[in-house]
Amino acid sequence: MKTKFYITTPIYYPSGDAHIGHAYCTTICDILARNKRLRGFETRFLTGTDEHGQKIKEHAKKAGKETKAYVDEIVANFQKLWKLMEISNDDFIRTTEDRHIKVVQDLFSQMLKKEDIYLGEYKGWYCTECEAFWTDIQVGDSHLCPDCHRPVHEASEESYFFKCSKYVDQLLDEYKKNPKLCFPTSRMNEMINTFIKPGLQDLSVSRTSNDWGITVKENPKHTVYVWLDALANYISALGYPDGELYKKFWQDENTEIIHVIGADISRFHCIYWPMFLMSTGLRRPDRVFVHGLLRIKDEKMSKSKGNVVSPYPLVERYGVDAVRYYLAREVTFGRDGEFTPEQFVERINVDLANQLGNLLNRTVSMIDKYFNGEIPEFKSNVTKFDSEIENMIKASIKEYELNFDDLKITEGVTSAMNLVARANKYIDETAPWVLAKEGKTDELKSVMSHLANVLYVSSILLSPVLVHQSKNILDQLGIPESLRNYQSINKIGIIEKFKVKKGNQLFPRLDTKVEIEYIKWLMK
Ligand code: ME8
Repeated sequence: MKTKFYITTPIYYPSGDAHIGHAYCTTICDILARNKRLRGFETRFLTGTDEHGQKIKEHAKKAGKETKAYVDEIVANFQKLWKLMEISNDDFIRTTEDRHIKVVQDLFSQMLKKEDIYLGEYKGWYCTECEAFWTDIQVGDSHLCPDCHRPVHEASEESYFFKCSKYVDQLLDEYKKNPKLCFPTSRMNEMINTFIKPGLQDLSVSRTSNDWGITVKENPKHTVYVWLDALANYISALGYPDGELYKKFWQDENTEIIHVIGADISRFHCIYWPMFLMSTGLRRPDRVFVHGLLRIKDEKMSKSKGNVVSPYPLVERYGVDAVRYYLAREVTFGRDGEFTPEQFVERINVDLANQLGNLLNRTVSMIDKYFNGEIPEFKSNVTKFDSEIENMIKASIKEYELNFDDLKITEGVTSAMNLVARANKYIDETAPWVLAKEGKTDELKSVMSHLANVLYVSSILLSPVLVHQSKNILDQLGIPESLRNYQSINKIGIIEKFKVKKGNQLFPRLDTKVEIEYIKWLMK
């Protein structure tokens, strides 16, 4: 297994404030990055903003602002949100930074020199919103953009083209060798059937009609096409071509490179990005993981549709951990999902308040009551359930790792939560209050120490998601700093003799009716 890990989010357009869809992708990547760091992988996590293009310039104009000042303001809002959501990115790349611009120009020059890029004339159907040219077949009789379904118009301009045809066979071959180059498989099939099989046209990679972009050094009336510009962020941020980080996290085969993106931009990441890397002789990512989109009432949430949910009020009212948990647990990673106030409230109440919160509450209260606050010594095989609980702890850790390594985040979180649910059932099965009444002290001790151990393991497993409350659990159990790490949770039974201390409630139970009304009001 590779020991280093490089994970990226898409770099977002600063054309409006971030919504819960952006927060979804960034949070998931953050959870993956935190999971890897926790487990001792050397990890790099990148996010950023994609600031060039006609569209951004138009947005700035509409807002009556100078373009750079406009993007600066929105970028600051993105950064504020990521801070609020405890996003642990190691870097934030902006495509207007010099360190990025020089890399894009360098890549363009290399492809030009290699004659993978040539000068021609573009005639076709242009979608201003997507900044993409489309063919007759693609727009059909409706003359609507196949991506965003807005009307397209005929346009022609001098343009540089990238020779896609030269790399199609190699791309198909790489798809075969590495099915994760576009994952899940349904997405790869979509690439092949929708874009490659009908005949992939050479890609227009420059514009003369857009001056808010990176200048082509060899021909300054052209700017580099936004997607060639944007995709290069994944290496410019590492200091391509000779930065230490680039050597460590891109060139070194011992690094697993993962791009996480939404289905809307898979064509660019699964077709053109690998081709640009082939042309410049650079390594391709190990995985492009296409996540599903969050919708509201069956509609894709998007800034241009104006049906967005802002993460701010949710985080303010319910806390960052609850929002992070909802995003990781509710929407199966890789599938589309719908944001509904009902499910949001239910997740918090059922999983976090009833299951996790209650387990902690009951455990700490009982240890207080029966053993004066000290977690009893750990012993196996005292009650008939003990070995089952111990085996489940071991199995849950294993399952959690396998799920996370396969980017099955929802399932990974479930592995930890199933353990919590099992422990709650264990309380009902062993009925500690009866054991106390009957004076079965050995059994009672064993139940308490097993419960404390389950809580300890689960809180560490959940720490990439519950960045605050996992600490709260460890504090209430009195776990010393030296055991607050991943290595220690594999030593079943080391939680004993610590002094528990009742603390703040993890997740107060929400009044379902009131909170659903509140979130519905937010969505109006
Ligand atoms: O496409 N549900 O930026 P963008 C889930 N700049 N995720 C969503 C979402 C939703 N409703 N809406 C957006 C761009 N996203 C380019 C990317 S990368 C080199 C350049 C997430 O601001 C999802 O990950 O439109 C999607 O792919 C991304 O935001 C698009 O963000």
